[in-house]
Amino acid sequence: MSLAETSTTGWPAWLQTPGFSDLRGKRVLITGGAGFIGSHIGRALSTLGSKVVVLDDLSGGYESNLSPGCEFHRASVLDDGALRRAVAECDVVFHEAALVSVPQSVAEPEKCAQVNMVGTQRVLTAASDARVRRVVFAASAAAYGNTPTLPSREEHTPDCWSPYAASKVAGELLLQSQARCSGLSTVSLRYFNIFGPRQDPSSPYAAVISAFLKMLLSGKKPTVMGDGEQTRDFTYIDNVVYANLLAATSARPFAGEVINIGTGVRTRLLDVLARMGEALGVDASPSFAPPRAGDVRHSVADIGRARELLGYAPVVDFAEGIRRTLDWAKTVPSLAGHAAGAVAAGRGSAA
Ligand SMILES: NC(=O)c1ccc[n+]([C@@H]2O[C@H](COP(=O)([O-])OP(=O)(O)OC[C@H]3O[C@@H](n4cnc5c(N)ncnc54)[C@H](O)[C@@H]3O)[C@@H](O)[C@H]2O)c1
Repeated sequence: MSLAETSTTGWPAWLQTPGFSDLRGKRVLITGGAGFIGSHIGRALSTLGSKVVVLDDLSGGYESNLSPGCEFHRASVLDDGALRRAVAECDVVFHEAALVSVPQSVAEPEKCAQVNMVGTQRVLTAASDARVRRVVFAASAAAYGNTPTLPSREEHTPDCWSPYAASKVAGELLLQSQARCSGLSTVSLRYFNIFGPRQDPSSPYAAVISAFLKMLLSGKKPTVMGDGEQTRDFTYIDNVVYANLLAATSARPFAGEVINIGTGVRTRLLDVLARMGEALGVDASPSFAPPRAGDVRHSVADIGRARELLGYAPVVDFAEGIRRTLDWAKTVPSLAGHAAGAVAAGRGSAA
């Protein structure tokens, strides 16, 4: 059975990786666990039988995203007392909480530095004091900026075009120094463009696929920022959850290593739109707006290090990921209603 398939237990095969059973019964903290990626990590851990603890201030996430039965602390990563209560007796911390928007970081650079840099150090100090076994950090491919050499490799010099990118690189360095100073095992996963169910399409800073989804389902002409020739390594959510679990359970003595998590395949924004329009049976021809401040032009991961250090390989490809994301959208009343309307009103093209 391939890792992409679902077994008779109803679990995807990748979730049955033998080492993941080590997490059964363990207390694990997910900062930002009410958000898109954190909530998927939480559900996978609940399925595995971990005691999931979430610390999230709900500035971008939703309580409805939490897995049933999880222990929820509504607080900021800047709140040291709450952090220490949440992290007590945890085996692993998945640090996902962050100010995640590139444009917001350009508008509010100090807030970005507070949450993403000071907040990350507080998580590390609290985890180290609580003798957590490992911290896995959500780093970002934004670190690569407009590097002309593709695919991006971890040893490339960072090229930061936004306070967000700089804060994420700083987070990696904090993980490295914490490992050296206190012996805390840490590892940073540089996510490329992650997409899938529960990604928030209503945010003014919505990631591109969920923004396209919302526009297409509401029958609006989609807007592309820039010329649409930009490329990204669009990575379905299961891949990043799989990588996090591999990083958390690996027997390697990680001490601040940085590892790309993507698929190694680049896709143009215009091709994403075309594929989504085709699958939905709607006209996806876009209008164009100026590019967003701080956005990079091309991005694709070299996943050789992830393969070598984690045994990682993508478990769900782009086409299957888009199909699952559209299937999910059809179950969300606020999105699905629009879908039916868009097609019934004759805005659909031949599928
Ligand atoms: N989605 C992607 O494509 C992508 C790519 C690269 C890196 N990342 C990183 O992955 C992580 C998760 O991103 P996401 O896409 O799930 O975003 P998200 O906005 O859905 O989740 C972030 C969560 O962090 C919470 N949060 C924000 N500030 C907080 C604070 N001060 N204290 C506590 N909680 C706080 C939000 O409420 C939200 O629930 C982030 O660190 C992000 O930088 C995401």
